[in-house]
Amino acid sequence: MPKRTVADTEVKGRRVLLRVDFNVPLITETGAISDDRRIRASLPTIKYLVEQRAKVILCSHLGRPKGKVVENLRMAPVAQRLSQLMGLPVGTALDCIGQDVESKARALKEGDVLILENLRFHPEEEANAPDFARKLARLADVYVNDAFGTAHRAHASTVGVARHLPAVAGFLMAKELEVMSQLLDNPEQPFACLIGGAKVSDKLGLMQSMLRKVDMLLIGGGMAATFLKAQGHEVGHSLIEEDRVSLAAKLLQEAEVSQVSLVLPVDAVVAEEIRAGAPTQVVSTTNVPPGSRIVDIGPKSIELFRSELKKCRTVIWNGPMGIYEIPQFAQGTRSLVTFLATLDATTVIGGGSSAEVVQEMGLTDKMTHVSTGGGASLRFLEGTALPGVEVLLDKEQ
Ligand code: 3PG
Repeated sequence: MPKRTVADTEVKGRRVLLRVDFNVPLITETGAISDDRRIRASLPTIKYLVEQRAKVILCSHLGRPKGKVVENLRMAPVAQRLSQLMGLPVGTALDCIGQDVESKARALKEGDVLILENLRFHPEEEANAPDFARKLARLADVYVNDAFGTAHRAHASTVGVARHLPAVAGFLMAKELEVMSQLLDNPEQPFACLIGGAKVSDKLGLMQSMLRKVDMLLIGGGMAATFLKAQGHEVGHSLIEEDRVSLAAKLLQEAEVSQVSLVLPVDAVVAEEIRAGAPTQVVSTTNVPPGSRIVDIGPKSIELFRSELKKCRTVIWNGPMGIYEIPQFAQGTRSLVTFLATLDATTVIGGGSSAEVVQEMGLTDKMTHVSTGGGASLRFLEGTALPGVEVLLDKEQ
């Protein structure tokens, strides 16, 4: 059911509490923001609210301060970047609740923007404490949630606050939900899901859900080793999840029954040590040497994956094909991302590390959609209801 959005709501002259996901990566040494994509992604909603002469009160978490004030997780650098991007002053507050913030919120003029201090400095945020949610709600007349990246968390600012205020989606939230729902309900076919990452257990739900939707499931990354093992191949020292081997076998079987083509790497780059500069060789996945570990998919697999993906009208990608952090083992991931960028198809990139790779390669604009939510997009595509979405008003309400 589509959600009511900020465009369906009267906001002029009203105080709007806008939950954003400005949980951006910071450079440890300098505290500078290394990737401002999440801030940019919410600009349409913020600009719209300013244009509509709302009084805008932004709130977000930053990092995981675990309910305490952590100096280098203050929102100041985020406020500064937002102000640069908007070309407008952005006010800051010393806290996210309390009298001082309440008087700041009351003093806002139409079109003003204020950003609250890190919500997670209070343990009550993650605990979804009713009193904390009430205090947040007291700041505003309307609640808008644009924080798709945090919609899988049932926190005070994503769930509790919606009890007290009319709650609608921002434009980013609406767009993410529209793209992801389209994938689940009505994808243009053939539809492929390219999955990677270290562990089967992290992506189990996604694989199970995708097996019911896609024509093709291509599996790379560390998790491929568990599937190869399930097929009876030796995988040397590759990290496998012993307790998931039978599950991988079951998924292979399910794919066969549902006539989904499940494609595994046919060759792999292997190394005896996981470090930059380690000697590597390319071997068939049926012939991984005993002392070696799979660190990337091999050139034949890249070719195979490309030729399969080329047939598709919709592709979703989630998770690297190898140990991406070490450039020497990033070739499989980089080649496939470059290839996805050239495809004449709908290409959707899961958030988290996949989005970071696309961003780092400068290919964000070449994809149909790059999600701002790592865990959130994963949960949504698994078919799990997101608490931060559930509480928003339906379009027809
Ligand atoms: C994210 O980065 O995935 C979101 O901001 C949620 O952050 P969390 O995993 O710390 O709840």
